[in-house]
Amino acid sequence: MKFFLDTVNIDDITSLLETGLIEGITTNPTLIAQSKRPQHEVIRAICALVPGPVSTEVIATDWKEILQEAHELARIAANVVIKVPVTFDGLKACYQLRQENIPVNVTLCFSPLQALLAARAGATYISPFMGRMDDYGQDGSTLLELIRDIYDNDPTIETQILAASVRSPKHVLEAAYAGADIVTLSPAVFRTLYAHPLTDKGLAQFLKDWKNAEAK
Ligand code: E4P
Repeated sequence: MKFFLDTVNIDDITSLLETGLIEGITTNPTLIAQSKRPQHEVIRAICALVPGPVSTEVIATDWKEILQEAHELARIAANVVIKVPVTFDGLKACYQLRQENIPVNVTLCFSPLQALLAARAGATYISPFMGRMDDYGQDGSTLLELIRDIYDNDPTIETQILAASVRSPKHVLEAAYAGADIVTLSPAVFRTLYAHPLTDKGLAQFLKDWKNAEAK
């Protein structure tokens, strides 16, 4: 399972890219709005830093307008991935964009059938939202498992499962167990993945023992 970052923060992207563990970026309209900068400017800056796929979402909801917006966004850089919602118009736009070889991330997925439709429409990625499922008392990891089974049952499906709305290390573990291809997570959640008190305790002890031996 690969790691993508779900952020528009350039400092976080720069610092975490250096680990070699981050292979792509996802963004959404909320994150772009919080940056208080124009979408094209933000995405251009991220694409200049990141060699992997960078997802950015359309605001339009009508399929013709989605296509127009998608074409403008796709011109920003070769690694731009167009995010469309899993609506009737979004799926129609997905199909059209894939005919043009423009990669598409179908987002806001909350059901296995939505994921199947997205795959048949040629989606490059499907984004099931784990945390938001959990918020409604539903199980995000079960959704991932069902999508994995459905995709594995059809060898013609190449859509990658991109676990999104990931709020904790537990979600990351569940996504890996469920067979997600990619997990996208905030820099804050990413930084919790390697943290363990026994690692800190063990390291402190090793360094102390080393120092004591040197002193002798
Ligand atoms: C993914 O592409 C979305 O941008 C994101 O994961 C949504 O996460 P949230 O539910 O924490 O806002």
